[in-house]
Amino acid sequence: MSNPSLLILPGDGIGPEVMAEVRRVIDWFGAKRGLEFDVSEDLVGGAAYDAHGKPLSDETMAKAQEVDAVLLGAVGGPKYDDLDFSLKPERGLLRLRKEMDLYSNLRPAQCFDALADFSSLKKDIVAGLDIMIVRELTSGVYFGEPRGIFEEGNERVGINTQRYTESEIERAARSAFELAMRRNKKVCSMEKANVMESGILWREVVNRVAKDYPEVELSHMYADNGAMQLVRAPKQFDVILTDNLFGDILSDCAAMLTGSLGMLPSASLGAPMANGRPKAMYEPVHGSAPDITGQGKANPIACILSFAMALRYSFDQLEEADRLEAAIEKVLADGVRTGDLLADEGVTPVSTTEMGDAILAALDDSL
Ligand code: NAD
Ligand code: IPM
Ligand code: MN
Repeated sequence: MSNPSLLILPGDGIGPEVMAEVRRVIDWFGAKRGLEFDVSEDLVGGAAYDAHGKPLSDETMAKAQEVDAVLLGAVGGPKYDDLDFSLKPERGLLRLRKEMDLYSNLRPAQCFDALADFSSLKKDIVAGLDIMIVRELTSGVYFGEPRGIFEEGNERVGINTQRYTESEIERAARSAFELAMRRNKKVCSMEKANVMESGILWREVVNRVAKDYPEVELSHMYADNGAMQLVRAPKQFDVILTDNLFGDILSDCAAMLTGSLGMLPSASLGAPMANGRPKAMYEPVHGSAPDITGQGKANPIACILSFAMALRYSFDQLEEADRLEAAIEKVLADGVRTGDLLADEGVTPVSTTEMGDAILAALDDSL
């Protein structure tokens, strides 16, 4: 049988820096665990624009559709701020999500014990935190029509449309309930049913889906209250189900519960392929971090944890995913920190590569 295939799209800014560390981790699994992947690499975002004038070429799009999983670093940067909207780096990422139909974006926020002191929140609020945000990823205001900037009288109007069909809500909800069944059996759905019709429909459909999961305790929260509750008492949550835009915002918020945005991985999953595994792209929650690009300061853990999610959700390598997560936990427990994780004066941060070295050493120790 041929090896599973992996398309790597490092992208822009710190994307290539963190992805270089993931490549070393992938090589380690090949050399030490006999877990070989057919890895190919391609361009996305500003890097693709620089090469062929588009943030994602049709060839790369076609490749992404064929592989077992895609791993993406990050896209965007100030260099591309003035480009026409359709050519912006972010359009490349959105095209991948849309055309691969990756409707369920899993964004776990876990607070590793060693980092409980480093969150901007008090230690007992975050210690032991383990929540999963399920963000609908292919619809809502990101894609709804009409959209655009139009002339209206003597001024312009910018329009985006929040639009959800019942089936779009239903499939995202099902993935949240399925996950909850394997976790603590709680789903909290967040929308703004108090002011948005799409929120009313969202709540109705989620209630309907919940009937198929009688063991799961379902609650609803307005998303603004949800944001407040996430920083007040995040451990009340197990799975949070929410739409595309609220999920984007709430997951950045959840990132700070774990100590840093540089810690948060994600899996963007679609329908099952012929091999039974979901169509999938794995991407850290963070962006291209232009403020630290090229300085060796980026934390590669979010991207490496995204690969651990690939091992779990695309390649059925649960023990190897555990091994990788445990290696990261050990490195953090040993006090190895990139700059984003430092709270104390006088502690010297390690570089991106040194963090990679430490994780590889911990992987070696796990054998
Ligand atoms: P960002 O996530 O790039 O950075 C926010 C802050 O977090 C910065 O101070 C940055 O230095 C820090 N940070 C992020 N990741 C880090 C890491 N791994 N290690 C250490 N520090 C880290 O968000 P932004 O500054 O709002 O956006 C910059 C660009 O990235 C924009 O073009 C935006 O559209 C894009 N973006 C892309 C993605 C993606 O590709 N998935 C996600 C978010 C933002
Ligand atoms: C994310 C990012 C993206 C989003 C951008 C870069 C398109 O912020 O993945 O969280 O808004 O979904
Ligand atoms: Mn975001």
